[in-house]
Amino acid sequence: FNVPVPVNEPVRAYAPGTAEHKNLIDKYKELYNQPQIDIPMYIGGKEVRTEKKRPMAPPHDHQKLLGHYNQGSAVHVEQAIEAAMNAREAWANTPWEQRAAVFLRAAELLAGPFRDKMNAATMLAQSKNVFQAEIDAACEMIDFFRFNVQYLTTIYKDQPISSPGVWNRVEYRPLEGFIYAITPFNFTSICANLCASPALMGNVVVWKPAASQVYSAAVIMELFQAAGLPDGVINMVTIDGPTAGEVIFKHRDFGGIHFTGSTEVFRGLWKNIGENLDKYKSYPRIVGETGGKDFVMVHRSAKAAEVATALSRGAFEYQGQKCSAASRAYIPSNIWADVKSILVSQVSSMKMGSPEDTSNFINAVIDKKAFTKISEYIDYAKAASDAEIIVGGNYDGSKGYFIEPTVIVTTNPKFKTMEEEIFGPVLTIHVYDEYKYEETLHIVDSTSEYALTGSIMATDRYAITQATDALRNAAGNFYINDKPTGAVVGQQPFGGARGSGTNDKAGAAMNLMRWVSVRTIKETF
Ligand code: SER
Repeated sequence: FNVPVPVNEPVRAYAPGTAEHKNLIDKYKELYNQPQIDIPMYIGGKEVRTEKKRPMAPPHDHQKLLGHYNQGSAVHVEQAIEAAMNAREAWANTPWEQRAAVFLRAAELLAGPFRDKMNAATMLAQSKNVFQAEIDAACEMIDFFRFNVQYLTTIYKDQPISSPGVWNRVEYRPLEGFIYAITPFNFTSICANLCASPALMGNVVVWKPAASQVYSAAVIMELFQAAGLPDGVINMVTIDGPTAGEVIFKHRDFGGIHFTGSTEVFRGLWKNIGENLDKYKSYPRIVGETGGKDFVMVHRSAKAAEVATALSRGAFEYQGQKCSAASRAYIPSNIWADVKSILVSQVSSMKMGSPEDTSNFINAVIDKKAFTKISEYIDYAKAASDAEIIVGGNYDGSKGYFIEPTVIVTTNPKFKTMEEEIFGPVLTIHVYDEYKYEETLHIVDSTSEYALTGSIMATDRYAITQATDALRNAAGNFYINDKPTGAVVGQQPFGGARGSGTNDKAGAAMNLMRWVSVRTIKETF
């Protein structure tokens, strides 16, 4: 089990004036100005196009037509399943070193020649600033590929004990059917990994990207092909969810689902799978990461400047469209005035605009639906008697879906925006009596159905201990004195519990374990 020791890909700074900055922006402009592209589906290694063309536009420039993708129908899902099942045996029987080599090659191609294109596509079509693109579409994706190979070996190495005359062993086989990957718009790396981690373990995949991520999804398919992934191992279909589900969840060879998206959709899929259980050869694996209402809990011993920075970065990077984004905070009365003044100054100086200008910290939210939903929450807060907007609150969808980073302060810890997932640049703060720490911990734990990420900020060690205990089940990723976002592969395995998912940590052996079916062999001599 000799594999390259994985290291996290160093994050580039893209300082203006440097060659790396120029090359990336040149690539962005090239993609922006190229003739309209026509993104195909990828089925069995072939590009498939249809008569139904769907337009793609940058969220920050929604009148600009980048091109189209091809809307598939049930027939294409059937073809994708067939292509996957045809590829299955050869791929499952490919020695693990060869499978690993494909993804290690993908990592190196992405670290080198594919990097600018993957980042530029993510900036352009998902409206990410350069730094947010780099940590996602380049570094996190590379890290997933490299670290997964290491995790594969830790799994395969785990063998039972034997004795003279008896040899026990376990074989980590791929699942018998195909895996259905449903992926979100907000992290290009997560999209790649939801396909790559089952495939590394020898499985075949039917992949349905989100409509708003198809542009960079096509670059991921190009990367896999360039890395030598055999045809049919990962098949990408652009199709609406219900049509895909109608075929996939009734298929005898459905082997499992690898999902990141909303809680509501995930629950619906799980029920659908349950209703069709008698049709399947095996019990399907159900792995999902869903919603969040992530908190920052602050103790009176915390440092105001550190709290403000954790909030402004945790809540507003990528316009708050991270499932891990800080969206509710509890600040003790003694440090509130200081936190408020630093936070308002930080947030009001965040520049907003197109990612092409890399000094813009805030870009557009993903689409019109998101824009409408988020602005409705802001309007709700504006009209409420128990809330006040202390910074931001304006939005303008005329050129792009721009919403100012907005901070709401409420006297009501159960205020609507303290409880519901908004998935946008909106942070709600409740200021509590500094001596009601214990009660407030209870409120943090009981306010949300989710348990994805959360932070405690304090310098008092007993306060940290108390929060760590009280919030034991409130976050799958718990941060002490940091923002609740930015988990790094190999360092903080990522995933949530309760309504936030099955907690099969991405970027960890636990996730890869879900994509194997173990055969135990006992041989006597
Ligand atoms: N892994 C991301 C983070 O930690 C969220 O998906 O921010």
